[in-house]
Amino acid sequence: MRPAVAAICLAWMLAANAAAAADAEKGRLFLQERCGGCHATDATGDSPLPAAPAFRQLGERYSPETLEESLAEGIVTGHPGMPEVVATPEEIDDIVAWLNAVQAAPKP
Ligand code: HEC
Repeated sequence: MRPAVAAICLAWMLAANAAAAADAEKGRLFLQERCGGCHATDATGDSPLPAAPAFRQLGERYSPETLEESLAEGIVTGHPGMPEVVATPEEIDDIVAWLNAVQAAPKP
């Protein structure tokens, strides 16, 4: 199994454990679609835009819950080029589940 595939499987298993109700995979897709042009959204891989921190590193500075509040208010952090995102409470649960899952994953 290639390392990338293994990492995705690991993240998937962690996600499934961490969040019974929320759907981390949906959160991952949401972030990939809206933020993945600049940020690395997965447990491995570099950000397409080097200045943008990989989401798995956000836990070093923020708790996913802090991010959750920001997303709910539609203002993650006003950074240049970042789309204004308003997520529904359900989507936010999914996103936080995914973020928690990748923070928990071992560093590559
Ligand atoms: C056009 C590129 C781009 C897109 C799209 C983008 N970001 Fe960013 N993001 C950046 C850059 C560049 C930084 C680093 C900014 C800095 O350090 O001032 C950043 C930083 C961040 C940070 C850390 C802020 C901090 O204070 O450390 C968070 C959280 C974040 N982005 C969330 C998101 C989310 C969530 C999305 C999708 C909804 C998103 N970003 C979409 C470019 C982008």
